Amino acid sequence: MSDSPIISVHNLHKWYSGVHALKGVSLDFKPNEAVGLVGDNGAGKSTLINILSGLHTADEGDVYVEGEKVSIANPRDAMDLGIETIYQYNSMVPIMSIARNMFIGREPLKMSIGGIGILDEAKMREQSVEAIADVDLHLRSPDALVGELSGGQRQGVAIARAMHFRSKVMILDEPTNHLSVKETTKVIGFVKSLREQNVTGIFISHNMHHVFACCDRIVAMALGEVVLDKPVAETSIDEVHDLL
Ligand SMILES: Nc1ncnc2c1ncn2[C@@H]1O[C@H](COP(=O)(O)OP(=O)(O)O)[C@@H](O)[C@H]1O
Ligand SMILES: [Mg+2]
Repeated sequence: MSDSPIISVHNLHKWYSGVHALKGVSLDFKPNEAVGLVGDNGAGKSTLINILSGLHTADEGDVYVEGEKVSIANPRDAMDLGIETIYQYNSMVPIMSIARNMFIGREPLKMSIGGIGILDEAKMREQSVEAIADVDLHLRSPDALVGELSGGQRQGVAIARAMHFRSKVMILDEPTNHLSVKETTKVIGFVKSLREQNVTGIFISHNMHHVFACCDRIVAMALGEVVLDKPVAETSIDEVHDLL
């Protein structure tokens, strides 16, 4: 297995008017590792990952994916590079079905008799059922509306979507906020299982216990800078706490 980074960021800077939110962040993310990104509110965690997921662009610095310098101008570019992000309030459309949500932006088409591309509903339903079963999520029907699901189930659908489309990097920004204990345990289990599926995980949480439970490496940020970067076995919750 290659140990060269799947994503490298070099000297990233980001300003929001007067706020210097990222002050020269450089980091490597290796294939198959789960990295826990921790830090206080305002540390710059979301800013960093929003640059990787195409919601923001850096004012300075470079991003490399598998050794190639890339420009991630929007979420579509990120998706095309194999980077999927699951947010605290994820990007599901509540009034649409699970099957439709699974394929947002990537709808499969089939030809109508008149030769016009139409949505292949059967394919979306079938593949949704498969994708959901693959992440060990039990939902009654792909036709259920996402708005009827619990927070944890929605996260599950978002994770199923990312896995189904073979993302290489899965970013989870505070995915356990507002989840029940049981649902949180499930998300932690998902993060743990990414490694076996050859997916790099970047798991952001202000809950140190969640991160320590499932990550291989801990990166701590404070005031826009990386203040610690160590394998989980070589650090502790206390050490990280003292730096924040
Ligand atoms: N869209 C924005 N506009 C202005 N300031 C922002 C914006 N997003 C973040 N910030 C500021 O940038 C800094 C880093 O925020 P953020 O990346 O959200 O940190 P974290 O995710 O670690 O809590 C904070 O000072 C925050 O107030
Ligand atoms: Mg944040």
